[in-house]
Amino acid sequence: MKKLLALLFVVLMMVACFAGCGSKDTLVMGTNATFPPYEYVDDNGEIVGIDAEIAAAVAEKLGMELEIKDMEFDSLLTAVQSKTIDIALAGMTVTDERKLSVNFSDTYAKGVQVIIVPENSAIKTVDDLKGKKIGVQTGTTGDIYCTDEFGQENVNQYQNGALAVAALNNGQIDCVVIDNEPAKNFVKANTGLKILDTEYANEDYAAAISKENTELLENFNKALKELKDDGTVDKIIAKYIPAE
Ligand code: ARG
Repeated sequence: MKKLLALLFVVLMMVACFAGCGSKDTLVMGTNATFPPYEYVDDNGEIVGIDAEIAAAVAEKLGMELEIKDMEFDSLLTAVQSKTIDIALAGMTVTDERKLSVNFSDTYAKGVQVIIVPENSAIKTVDDLKGKKIGVQTGTTGDIYCTDEFGQENVNQYQNGALAVAALNNGQIDCVVIDNEPAKNFVKANTGLKILDTEYANEDYAAAISKENTELLENFNKALKELKDDGTVDKIIAKYIPAE
């Protein structure tokens, strides 16, 4: 009886291994799902948005299963470096500084850093930000640029854009510097706020991949190019950013 059970166990293990070995490779994407329309949690608790859909389309091309991990924006690059995730897609701007720690894919979208203020604000241009209390999401380019230009003492960091905008609504800060598309979403969800008609910085978004994983970088870029060429990327962007 014991022998039979042991044999059964071995057979079961073999079956389990076969099933496991036959299953698809997983592409683990990290993001920070507080950034509509690029990534956010929908009413069903699912992470959706432009980045999630582009990643899903790439994964499908590569014959891989997509798994999305939600984390703080400022831990994404370390997660890529430590290979906790394979790839970060998070409306992430390509910068020279970040290129020191990760590789970036070809870019798939453009972003603009804009300034959100109360409708009656005296702030009209970037120069008016001097000495004002600026809200940003921690670790973003908005954070980095404003800290460089206006000093750390004038920059209030928040875990995400929505919290920064809430602080602006409460009068705790004078403005929020953030990417234009999330800015539009936040302004729409609140009353009494507007986006200044001035561009603080123009940026390119791309996926971040470990410098050691050049194979994934090549495969991602190849799949991305096909998805750009066949109009899939444009379609995904148009779905989340309706033409005005
Ligand atoms: N584009 C900015 C940056 O790269 C902000 C990105 C924030 N993304 C997010 N998913 N919260 O720093």
